[in-house]
Amino acid sequence: MKIAVAGTGYVGLITGVCLAEMGHDVVCTDIREDKVLLLKSGCAPIYEPGINPMLKKNLDAGRLHFTIDSEFAYKDADIIFIAVGTPENPDGTANLDHVYEAAYTIGLCLNKDSIICTKSTVPVGTNEQIMEIINSVKPVHINTQSVSTPEFLREGSAIYDFFHGDRIIIGTESEEAALLLEQVFLPLKIPIVKTDIRSAEMIKYASNAFLATKISFINEIAAICDKVGANIEEVAYGIGKDRRIGPQFLQAGIGYGGSCFPKDTKALVQIAGNVEHQFELLEAVIKVNNRQQACAVKKAKELFDSIEGMRVAVLGLAFKPDTDDIREAASLTIVKTLLAEGASVIAYDPVAVPNARSVFGNVIEFTADIQTAISGAELVIIATEWDHIKHLPLEKYVQLMRNPVIIDGRNCYSLKDVSKHPITYVSIGRPSHIEEHAQTRSNSAKEGWYDETFTSILPD
Ligand code: UGA
Repeated sequence: MKIAVAGTGYVGLITGVCLAEMGHDVVCTDIREDKVLLLKSGCAPIYEPGINPMLKKNLDAGRLHFTIDSEFAYKDADIIFIAVGTPENPDGTANLDHVYEAAYTIGLCLNKDSIICTKSTVPVGTNEQIMEIINSVKPVHINTQSVSTPEFLREGSAIYDFFHGDRIIIGTESEEAALLLEQVFLPLKIPIVKTDIRSAEMIKYASNAFLATKISFINEIAAICDKVGANIEEVAYGIGKDRRIGPQFLQAGIGYGGSCFPKDTKALVQIAGNVEHQFELLEAVIKVNNRQQACAVKKAKELFDSIEGMRVAVLGLAFKPDTDDIREAASLTIVKTLLAEGASVIAYDPVAVPNARSVFGNVIEFTADIQTAISGAELVIIATEWDHIKHLPLEKYVQLMRNPVIIDGRNCYSLKDVSKHPITYVSIGRPSHIEEHAQTRSNSAKEGWYDETFTSILPD
């Protein structure tokens, strides 16, 4: 099948590469020439495990093309996927400019009957607008049909998710289009759910809103666990065993981030508001998440009188492991709050440093080496549960910090392991392990215990 994909962002790129991997002839188009050139050379502009080898393989096989030439992309396509971004407007609504621009260009370039599938996350009713735009400029003899095929890929495991998703949603009023799309996705052996366009559009928002709700719910329970001395991990395990609840998305932490949940939850509140329904539950989910992103520094301030002048290592900048994406990451809130409190910050991430540098410039120090970050730090805050962090032996903190204090925003370490070390350890919804030294730390920091002598004895 000849397939065109509009937009080479996360969703567009993964969709294009994976459809080519399935044997289709795919042309991906983007308005950014620099991105297209990079992709043509076999390099993905994003960090995503497995993407580069698959990209190269399909470029070499001649099944995958990248272009800024929209006419080349769309003129022969049987199916066109719209996968451009729908960023957030200042009022929380989804910005549909890119979607409508893509629709207009598609309409102008159509040369044969085509099925237009929207993968971008768009409010209910948008696909009708898209078709109105396309139909207003396309040649009259050409037929188009509209399908909403929302995407459920997770960053960091997007390729796996493409081939092993839980369901594929095909929302269309056209039986012919549904059949063709079914043909495309049938080899994946993923359950296909056929529905109408508006329901498909809603399924996407409702899925993300529900997952965000699960996260804020468990974070609320964690906050209560903190106060009553229960352990959120035991609680999550216990409730997750109920098949009606399920074990996934019950990991308490410093809140959800990324380019989807924060944006989509706000957009759904707006969508509801537009039809005069106040989505109070989702408003609370968002509020809880904002509070949660701030809770790591709050916990540090409960531990010390002041963190002014402290050297703080933030471990993890990406909004989750296996991505270099820092959009709406809790780490951003943490670093900004630390700076506002007068702390000096060194931030570690194995892949997201270049992205974070573009936000913070030289205001903080960066390193891609975890031990460099910890060396001489007076406080460590863990913001992302990278394996590099989870697998770092606790002895390293003891060796590299004078009086180790860790605020673990992602519950990376077992409490049993921590209790064997002279480490003050505060996590989310689990009993804390406080060493005496933590109480006097802020004073010693002001006295300047961390000096050249100490740095010089640090192991490599
Ligand atoms: C999310 C959805 O999971 C995908 O199904 C969807 O396709 C995608 O948004 C999208 O709309 O494009 P993603 O944002 O890549 O995917 O990442 P998730 O794995 O869902 O994690 C989102 C955030 O929730 C992360 O910050 C993560 O740390 C946090 N999280 C996740 C928790 O705090 N606890 C959990 O138990 C799970």
